[in-house]
Amino acid sequence: MASIFSIRFIRDAARGRKRILDAGCGNGVQALYLARLYPEALIHGYDISPEAIERANRYKQSREVPNACFSVSSHDSFEPPDKMDMIYASGSLVGEHEIPGTEEPLLEGEEIVKRRLSRFREMLSHEGILAILWCAADDANNRLRKLAEGCDLAYRDARTGDVVSYKEDSGKIICRYALVFWALNK
Ligand SMILES: C[S@@+](CC[C@H](N)C(=O)[O-])C[C@H]1O[C@@H](n2cnc3c(N)ncnc32)[C@H](O)[C@@H]1O
Repeated sequence: MASIFSIRFIRDAARGRKRILDAGCGNGVQALYLARLYPEALIHGYDISPEAIERANRYKQSREVPNACFSVSSHDSFEPPDKMDMIYASGSLVGEHEIPGTEEPLLEGEEIVKRRLSRFREMLSHEGILAILWCAADDANNRLRKLAEGCDLAYRDARTGDVVSYKEDSGKIICRYALVFWALNK
């Protein structure tokens, strides 16, 4: 579902970009899609899960996609071979294992988010863009924007998808898919 919402926008944003990083790529389906669509681009996907990367490598082999590669790594340890023209993290910025039991990892995992946005910012090329797909309430999306500004990233654009869930405890939380784009603050 997240992939279906995001892929159109990621596809358009990736057009003409040479080095693309799929951060937390899971089984690599989005990275392979982009690699086939843009054969002149190099797509690198990494994921903390060795099983996910094994699947990604299997799909890559069966589909013969020479311009995609995958590695097991985490947001906190990945060292890019080069500056990236586009980085996207689709549903992976904070793993479920990192702040268990929360519906709002952005609100509760601020330090983690800041650290990762700063690392992504360091990896971006001069004209590079960062896209984060996130499923959260509006509060959290506003907070994400502020955190990114604090990391010297300039807000570019946001697309909001469907309401995906809600809960009624201490008030209703509406979660939407949001895909937010930033560029370097120049
Ligand atoms: C919801 S899945 C999304 C997968 C894919 N990006 C997509 O949109 O279909 C989240 C992925 O993030 C990965 N992940 C979680 N924490 C991570 C971290 N700290 N570094 C790298 N990957 C991480 C998980 O292993 C999982 O594959």
